[in-house]
Amino acid sequence: MTTGHENEHFDALVVGAGAAGLFYGARAGEKGLRVLVIDHAKKPAEKVRISGGGRCNFTNIHTTPANFLSDNPHFAKSALARYTPQDFIGRLERHNIGWHEKTLGQLFCDERSGAIIDMLLAELRAAGGTLRLETTVSNIALTDSGFQIMTSSGPVSATRLVIASGGLSIPKMGATGFAYDVARQFGHAVIEPRPALVPFVFEGRAKTDFAEISGVACPVRASNERAAFDEAMLFTHRGLSGPAILQISSYWAERETITIDLLGGLDAPAALKAFKAGHPKKSLVSALETLLPSRLVAMLAARGDIPDCPRLADLSHAAIDALVDGLSHWTLKPAGTEGWRTAEVTAGGVDTAGLSSQTMQSKSVPGLFFIGECVDVTGWLGGYNFQWAWASAHAAAQA
Ligand code: FDA
Repeated sequence: MTTGHENEHFDALVVGAGAAGLFYGARAGEKGLRVLVIDHAKKPAEKVRISGGGRCNFTNIHTTPANFLSDNPHFAKSALARYTPQDFIGRLERHNIGWHEKTLGQLFCDERSGAIIDMLLAELRAAGGTLRLETTVSNIALTDSGFQIMTSSGPVSATRLVIASGGLSIPKMGATGFAYDVARQFGHAVIEPRPALVPFVFEGRAKTDFAEISGVACPVRASNERAAFDEAMLFTHRGLSGPAILQISSYWAERETITIDLLGGLDAPAALKAFKAGHPKKSLVSALETLLPSRLVAMLAARGDIPDCPRLADLSHAAIDALVDGLSHWTLKPAGTEGWRTAEVTAGGVDTAGLSSQTMQSKSVPGLFFIGECVDVTGWLGGYNFQWAWASAHAAAQA
């Protein structure tokens, strides 16, 4: 037991007992390193617990480097190739943790996500690692043989210092900018962190209109010049959410517009022309209600995004084509995002230019590693961020 004063030595001190830190601790312990994992929170891996609606979308079987954003799109390739979704699935199966695919390659636990936390903790214990919660770091100094770290439970020296303290998303869960502070202390650049996988908020007329149909969802294509996503969109009291919106938010910058194809995947011109032929006396609103939720159609009509047309017989095919074109390129300018309060992840982070893509080790400070979300590698929605946490931790533990 520590008195809080004597100096303890570990081969690796890991700051952050989240997905990446716990996974690293177990892998490094298996390699024979004496590992201490510390976290300022009362409980480890709280984001694993709440993830995927409580069932943790722990990986995506379609993972490729193209599913990640980074200033250097090549950086994640090596780690992702050396620890794959199949590798993680194999681990779950050895622990008898049931899983299923929901959609788009997204794998979830059959039971609660706590099963994954139990697995991570059991593996850390089995590998001889120590976990110390409610512990903070107040100072880090370089020594001849590694690092001297002042923690709230006493001084620790370590040959390796592994920063796994995550990003800034959801401050009320204990997110801090600790990793960025350490990076800057040791001369690393930090790509400006920004909220990602986050709902958009709107102002003025759009905000009122969207709030009125809050809860309505429909499949769309959300795009800008950098990316496009075919998934569901949800109207909310403050603006827009749903998977398609969360995805495009990661590629959005302040003051930019986004384009929503409300008729994504539908052959709308053919459907509307066929409806007109069968029901010439019906209204355009009735026709559109066969393709879109009726509350959305009513909102679009009230906004003037749909022409007033009580009898389809009066609507030319050219007018139908023009209408479809408008609804396929519904251009919106969000006022902003919901910010750190609800962002699922942090884009940006420790600049990969200063890290080895093989090991996540600092190129300038031997023994210093950054893994998981604090690094400037950000996954799409759908299990990619945990896959990065596992893969980057695995890469660092091989070093
Ligand atoms: P993570 O944030 O998990 O862990 C960091 C740890 O460091 C925390 O335990 C924290 O307390 C600790 N810490 C922070 N600052 C510290 C300090 N100064 N001192 C000591 N300790 C400190 N991803 C996915 O792939 N599938 C999914 O289903 C979901 N779902 C999801 C839902 C919600 C609501 C959120 C907010 C996020 C997700 N994610 C997700 C994203 C995923 O949770 C995230 O990318 C990983 O948890 C990142 O793992 P890390 O270990 O890097 O950081």
